[in-house]
Amino acid sequence: MLMQRCFWPVLFILLSIIVDIDGRQQSKIQPPMPFKLSHLTSNQRGNRQSTEVQQMNPCNGTYIRTNGTTCGLKEIIIGRCYQYQYTNRGPYFNYQTNTKDCTELYEAFERAVRYKPFCEINMSTYEEYFKLTLKDIKPIDRGMFWSGTNMIAHIYSNNGHNYITLEDTLAAVMLNQLTWCGKANDSIGFDYVNCPGACEENPWSDVAFWGLASKTFAESVTGEVHVVLNGSRDATDLAFRTDSFFAKFELPNFRRDQQFNVIRVNVLLLHSPDIPIREKCGEKSLLILEDLVRQRGFDYTCEDDPDALLMIMCGNEYNARECQVARRILRQEWDAKLFGQSLQNQPELFLLIFVLFIVMLCAALLT
Ligand SMILES: *[C@@H]1O[C@H](CO)[C@@H](O)[C@H](O)[C@H]1NC(C)=O
Ligand SMILES: *[C@@H]1O[C@H](CO)[C@@H](O)[C@H](O)[C@H]1NC(C)=O
Ligand SMILES: *[C@@H]1O[C@H](CO)[C@@H](O)[C@H](O)[C@H]1NC(C)=O
Ligand SMILES: *[C@@H]1O[C@H](CO)[C@@H](O)[C@H](O)[C@H]1NC(C)=O
Ligand SMILES: *[C@@H]1O[C@H](CO)[C@@H](O)[C@H](O)[C@H]1NC(C)=O
Repeated sequence: MLMQRCFWPVLFILLSIIVDIDGRQQSKIQPPMPFKLSHLTSNQRGNRQSTEVQQMNPCNGTYIRTNGTTCGLKEIIIGRCYQYQYTNRGPYFNYQTNTKDCTELYEAFERAVRYKPFCEINMSTYEEYFKLTLKDIKPIDRGMFWSGTNMIAHIYSNNGHNYITLEDTLAAVMLNQLTWCGKANDSIGFDYVNCPGACEENPWSDVAFWGLASKTFAESVTGEVHVVLNGSRDATDLAFRTDSFFAKFELPNFRRDQQFNVIRVNVLLLHSPDIPIREKCGEKSLLILEDLVRQRGFDYTCEDDPDALLMIMCGNEYNARECQVARRILRQEWDAKLFGQSLQNQPELFLLIFVLFIVMLCAALLT
């Protein structure tokens, strides 16, 4: 009896509350055009013609995009080195007063590559450079590796303030995103027009720098290690790929049987908003990885989408379907913080009291 008499009024009021909440959200100021952080990092490629490039020296005062050595290579490297140590204070310079000699570091790099044809170099070419720049770095419990998650992993590592990735070290910062190749019998010693993308006769030359960088960095981390992998790659691509830098140069070089070792490998497996899930922890390639990790004597954990990384992914793609509700609730919380609890919740509170009143009235009428 009570149910029948009160069902429709209560339903009507509940519906009007829902419509009201929705209406208020719709009327909120719409955010500006979808904006992704990735737009900031992607290269702004010019669309100049590439046909004349071969005859030009692109570093004589006009900017022309080529496939050759980056113009100003030396100045960029030395400048970045100064900036890292004196302005940004990267993770290993924050508590130190001694700094490395940037010119000396550049010269070690130059000795390795200048006048040498790109296809004749191999990993040992860069040994001296990494000995000077990377060997003394010892991340404890904060070493972070990534594969297929470049941008999100680096937002999370936050330039070495949260975790330390290879790209947060001086050795990598100095050369990241630059192109270089030596040229034999040449007064400049660098080819500014065209660097080979791949050397068929010596595939090592392609991975020489970043391969040795990865290996040296992997050899330096101890304690807990974090690996950010991508569980929503394309159908053919697995989260753990045996041909990835992580599989080839990093995992095999984690310290063991030494005084200080890697103890545990923590996989943080990400699933991007709006993209289908390919693998979860404990599935497919993650099983292969777990096996390899345990074979090498390390503990293994795997976590799907930890909160902090979820927030970063949704921060970056806040229009994605999975992020909408979180975004709405966040806005409510934020408004409550900005304008006070009472103002925000007043209409809902009023309607709630009204519903309770109707229910009680129905109940009273029935008795
Ligand atoms: C740079 O070199 C190219 C071709 O070598 C030439 O056409 C151009 O005028 C030069 N620019 C300057 C500023 O010297
Ligand atoms: C750079 O190399 C790519 C691929 O090898 C080629 O398509 C492109 O035209 C080259 N660009 C220039 C400026 O030479
Ligand atoms: C790498 O190159 C150096 C000289 O360029 C050579 O002495 C060395 O044997 C090479 N190492 C490998 C593994 O090819
Ligand atoms: C995972 O891979 C997909 C497909 O390449 C890509 O769109 C997505 O951004 C990647 N996710 C992360 C967190 O990097
Ligand atoms: C450079 O010069 C030497 C001797 O003058 C010669 O043997 C070598 O083939 C030259 N290399 C190139 C890449 O031209």
